[in-house]
Order: sequence, then C-alpha cells, then structure tokens
Amino acid sequence: MLLLALGLLAGCSDDAQDSGIVDAALPAVWGLPVAEDVDPDPDVVEVHLTAGFTTVQWTGDQEWTDVWAYNGSVPGPLIQAMQGQQVRVVFDNQLEDETTIHWHGLRIDDEMDGVPMIQDPVQPGGSFTYAFTPPDSGSFWYHPHVRSNEQVERGLQGAMVIHEPDAPTPARDRYFVLDDAYLRNGGAFYNFTMDHMEQMHGRFGNTLLANGQAVTGDIGQPLTDTVRPQAPERWRIVNTANARTMYVDVEGASWRVIAVDGALLAEPYTVSKALLPVGRRLDLEVIPDADAATVELQIKLPGDTGNAYPVFQGTVEGEAGDGAWLSWPAADKPAIPQTAAQEVEVVLDGYAASSGDIVWTVNGQPYGDGEAIVAQGNTPTFIRIREDAGFEHPFHLHGQYFQVVSVDGEPADETQAGLMDTWLMEGLDEVVLYTELDNPGRWMAHCHILEHAELGMMTELVVE
Ligand code: C2O
Ligand code: CU
Repeated sequence: MLLLALGLLAGCSDDAQDSGIVDAALPAVWGLPVAEDVDPDPDVVEVHLTAGFTTVQWTGDQEWTDVWAYNGSVPGPLIQAMQGQQVRVVFDNQLEDETTIHWHGLRIDDEMDGVPMIQDPVQPGGSFTYAFTPPDSGSFWYHPHVRSNEQVERGLQGAMVIHEPDAPTPARDRYFVLDDAYLRNGGAFYNFTMDHMEQMHGRFGNTLLANGQAVTGDIGQPLTDTVRPQAPERWRIVNTANARTMYVDVEGASWRVIAVDGALLAEPYTVSKALLPVGRRLDLEVIPDADAATVELQIKLPGDTGNAYPVFQGTVEGEAGDGAWLSWPAADKPAIPQTAAQEVEVVLDGYAASSGDIVWTVNGQPYGDGEAIVAQGNTPTFIRIREDAGFEHPFHLHGQYFQVVSVDGEPADETQAGLMDTWLMEGLDEVVLYTELDNPGRWMAHCHILEHAELGMMTELVVE
C-alpha cells in the first residue's frame, strides 16, 4: 500500500513541478497556511522555517500583540508529508533568544528530537536542519523545547500532518490549533516571571485562540466556512495552551473520536464532550446533520459548565453526502500482556522551597538534580505513574507511544484506548501505561503544563 502510494506520488510530481506546486499530491488540510515543499524529490518534503518577530491583533481593532512566529504566522505553517516520505526542516533562528524545535509525538531519532540535552540550542542568527522520516501517520505538532513556557505562549507552535496512504477521503480535512494567551489590556503579553498562581497551576490565558484568531474578547469571533450536509469531515484538534485543560464538543452534527495523539483507533467512540489536555491531539469525524443550519466546534472548560465557546461555525449547504461513517485504517497496536518484563516507576510531586517558590519533581527531584530513569529497549514495559501532590499534570513521553492499562486500578475503557504520547494525570491518581520502548535513545518525560516542566517536573528516560 505504502509503495503504491509513493508510486502515485512519483507519477504526479512531474506535472506538479511544472505548476510550481511540488506537494500537490498531498490532501488539502483546511485552516492553516501550508509550508511549501521546496524539494522536487517525491520522497522528500523540504520546508524552510524561520522563527522571528511579527504582530497580530488579538484584543482590539487598534491593538497589537508582539508575537514570536514561525514564517510570520501564529500558529506556524502546517508541515505535511505522506507517511514514508522524509521530512527536512531547514530552520533559521531570527529571534534574540536561543531555541530548538521539538516534534511532539513523532517517534524519530533522539538527535532530531529538538531537546537541549542532546541538541545545542540554535543561537540567534543560527540555523539547523532537522531531518527525519516519521514512522507513524496522524496529527502532530511542533514547538520549542527551550523555556517553552515563554516561547510557546509567545506564538512558537505549529501543526504537522503525516497522511495515511490508505485513509479514506473526507469531504474536508481540517486542523484546529487551540490555545489561550494571557494578555494585558492593549494586547501585550503579561510578563513571564511566574507568580505563585502560575507556579502552582501554570499560566492560564484570558483570550482563547483558534488557528491564530481570537475567538473570545472584544474582537473575538469563530472561524467560519461551509460544510455539506451529511458529508463526513475529519477535524484534527490540538491543545497548545501552556496549562489549560479543555473539552471539545460539536453541535449540529453526529461526531466521534477517530484518533488520539495521531494514531487512528481500532474502535472510534462517541462521548458527550471530549477531553483535550494540553499537548493532546484528537481527530474527530463529523457528519453535519441534514437539517442543521450550522455546525459548531466548541471549547468547554472544566469547572465552567454553563459556557461553550464557539471556535468554528460551518454553514451547512451544498450537495448532501450519504451520512455514513468512513472506515479508517487503525494503527497497529501491540497487545497488552498480563505481566510485563519490566516496570518503570514515576512519581509526580512538588513542594514549596524555603524561598516560597514551588519546585515540581519527578521521583523526588526536579530536573537536573534527579537521575535519569534507565530502561531496556524493545521490552514489554509497564510505566506506573503516581501523582502525589493533588494537581493536574498532562504527562508526556518523547519518542515512544503507550497505551493505558489501568486508571486507579480500573482497566482502561474504550474512551481511554489508543496509542498516546500524553496522558492527563488528574491528581492523587495512579495510572499504569504499557509500552514496548521500541525507539532506543534518550527521551524527555515531563509534565506538559509548561511552567511545571520549567520548575522541574521533567526527567530523562534512557531507553537502551
Ligand atoms: Cu510537546 Cu517535551 O513536548
Ligand atoms: Cu504538571
């Protein structure tokens, strides 16, 4: 299947080159600018990313926010490739700060993972070429791994799609990058000194953003487009906020979750609203109701049960589809054994230092003071995570994916199924994950509340 698809791509690429569009064979994804593939080789997608400064309007007509952006846009351009293609990202740093790019969810070589423990950060004026062949298809994202609490909030974040060669074609494939920004009147970012609240809970924004457009506040309005009645769409969604757990809901349609953190599920499921912790991706299949005027994607917030924030409104019009769910090729998923050859313990906790500052820890130590966790690669492994502080922590592991075995001793249900790289610890809970650690290397494991990670809740997992 893969070879066939690449063959087709090769067949198309000559025509495509004539028209100047070398990635014409890739399915179109709505909602974001697309990074142009500048390499005519059908097996390679080469894009150029430059981090620099620009301004956006998020708070008012005469108000500007100075942001840090990839290729001048927040979020950055969509990077897309067909599964099996090599991706090369030629990166230039035009910021005044050092930075890296991490490819969240991709199981690639650790030298290309964009973490400062392996890669010297790219200095202002410097450049670096990331090259990798993503082994998995699905919805991913990218962001810096240097002072990410500031760099991601200021706008350095972007989406990535690795297309399945054998996926069905939806009426529309859309990507929604959901974020919140913490902005003063007039549009400037609040400073990044991390007061006590931010140290405790992470930075919560006051302006919700969808694909770089404010959807709340004085000039907030939802993204808009048309959708066809009864015609199934694929909606990819990522939560790029520093700290805010969201839920997503869809009105005016039948919808179900078809992929979590990239990987397509063997059994898509329906829920009343879908939990979207930071870092997490969800792919929804959405079939607009025949008699609906609009279909709406909404953000709902924990502890704010009355409100729904519309982030996308699709006017239902045009030729009707057949209303049937598409059949999605599920990602291969290792069977979870009863017992595993290896167990890894992870305890998430924190304390107040004598200065009053909060220190967040993994296995008792903040990052830098603690020892790396060492595990055998290609070995059936349970990762047992316990949260002892009574706080939420979206636990993220680089370079591997995992499945959830149990939550507080209860076997995972269908809404907890799938191959993931991020799992929301809710506080005072214990979760058992299963992984085969099939990608050797040195990998970060951390809380994706970016302030927690900066304040120590990060460790290194060495997979031998
Ligand atoms: Cu999304 Cu260590 O990162
Ligand atoms: Cu945390």
